[in-house]
Amino acid sequence: MKTLHLNSNDKNAITTAAEILRSGGLVAIPTETVYGLAANALDGEAVKKIFEAKGRPNDNPLIVHISSLEEINPLVESVDPRLYKLAEKYWPGPLTIILKKSDLIPDEVSPNLDTVAIRMPSHECARAIIRESGVPLAAPSANASGKPSPTKAAHVIEDLDGKIDAVIDGGESDVGVESTVVTLVTDPPTLLRPGGITPDQLVDVLGELNISSAVYEKLKDGEQAQSPGMKYKHYAPSAQVTIIRGSFENYKKFLLAQKDTVCAVCFEGEGKHFEKYIEYGKKNDEFSQAHSLFDALREVDAMGCKRAFVRCPMSEGVGLAVYNRLLRSAAFRIIDLDIKIPVIGLTGQTGSGKTTVAAILKENGCAIVDTDILARKAVENPEVIAMLCKEFGDDIIENGVLNRRELARRAFATKEGTEKLSAITHPEITRLSVELIHKAYESGAKAAVIDAALLFDSPLACLCDKTVSVCASENIRLERIMKRDGISENDALLRMNAQPPAEYYTEKSDIIINNDGTNDLKEQLSEVLNDT
Ligand code: TXA
Ligand code: MG
Repeated sequence: MKTLHLNSNDKNAITTAAEILRSGGLVAIPTETVYGLAANALDGEAVKKIFEAKGRPNDNPLIVHISSLEEINPLVESVDPRLYKLAEKYWPGPLTIILKKSDLIPDEVSPNLDTVAIRMPSHECARAIIRESGVPLAAPSANASGKPSPTKAAHVIEDLDGKIDAVIDGGESDVGVESTVVTLVTDPPTLLRPGGITPDQLVDVLGELNISSAVYEKLKDGEQAQSPGMKYKHYAPSAQVTIIRGSFENYKKFLLAQKDTVCAVCFEGEGKHFEKYIEYGKKNDEFSQAHSLFDALREVDAMGCKRAFVRCPMSEGVGLAVYNRLLRSAAFRIIDLDIKIPVIGLTGQTGSGKTTVAAILKENGCAIVDTDILARKAVENPEVIAMLCKEFGDDIIENGVLNRRELARRAFATKEGTEKLSAITHPEITRLSVELIHKAYESGAKAAVIDAALLFDSPLACLCDKTVSVCASENIRLERIMKRDGISENDALLRMNAQPPAEYYTEKSDIIINNDGTNDLKEQLSEVLNDT
């Protein structure tokens, strides 16, 4: 299908769009929140096409758009007086209100529900099209399902060109995130999705308001979504998105410590420190953040970055909507770099006795973050497993369980494979490590000790206030490894030689612990223990 590219300034654009809509076609229209993919809401067959074009799960209901209040009556069972109060203050505008639906609403609009969501957009072009069509318009955001919502006609074209009848370019969407969704069917009313109208603005009119837990949290397994659109992952570019909390200083340090080229999605004026960056709005201005968020997320893919680290937005007012969307595009992955406990990095060659030193630190009130354990935990994460399957083949999963031996066989066969495995698992190990550091603080530990053989090859090194290397002479290490792992001298030597030389550790560490068995370890650790 050839998609007609119209412009809202063209004389005939509105009438052409209205004709297409009346005859059961699909038109992407500009609204003040995001672009919508519209069809006649009273024509079930037309509405079906929306789901097909977007690849949208068909249990996800659509919003019905109107251009004046009189259009509401036939669409609902009865009009709740609170709707008029909300409408008086916030319509036309970025607010969607859910009521019990009438029989006029076809099943396709809100499958399996007895309710319908209604909104009157403030964008002149959108309302003109509704008026001209003479029918209410069902319209979800005009993106391919799962992708960031479109705030420009170019975004719509990127996702849907050739799949819809027309798109009307009406400039950039002003708000930039989708409307606030509130249901009046529950008592008190419930905020299902934050957006351009803030919770405080709703409370002003409604008095009481519940906030659905899905606004902040991911659904538990098997939990029914009050608003099916608030699924686990959504609004996501192809790149992996991680939200970074904390100061800009920490953000910068952490990003510059990454081994691959990542995209910094930061605030105005901050980008110059990074090789690849996109700025989304001003630091203390949630409106500007909302306005440019989705465009920025799309830009990440256009830049060809595999990973993006996004500065955490404010979560008040309209910022709640920005935070809510980002949480989903990041599949709830957040790293909080506002660390409130001293962090010690512990490293050393195999056989140097790092574990013994860790045990002493533990006895003395430190919490150990064992990255070997976390490396095993990392491959339990479904998202990591999905990435591993993509890289190494679906058959590394056997009867629903990851076959670690097979994965190792395939990954370690080549240097390239080993690097790919690290690129997938290391970010998750880092995230889990930071999570444990926060837990260490909460449990009252004196310090968190990151135990990592290759600490200096990891961004975790940048979190350490102090680094400690454990050293031992070659003979002693050889003996220890043979005994510990029950292997021959040759095999032990092979392992030792595969590791970086002693200088690699000693040059980079603040403190060197000699663990030949001759010196008292605790005494050597006194500097570490006294300082923390
Ligand atoms: O700003 C917006 O609302 C944009 C523009 C185009 O108006 N539209 C939009 O539509 O964001 P969509 O389909 O991407 O999101 C609609 C949200 C979904 O989370 C959906 O689950 C929820 O509203 N929704 C729609 N009808 C509902 C209903 N009857 N009950 C509960 N949730 C409903
Ligand atoms: Mg959407």
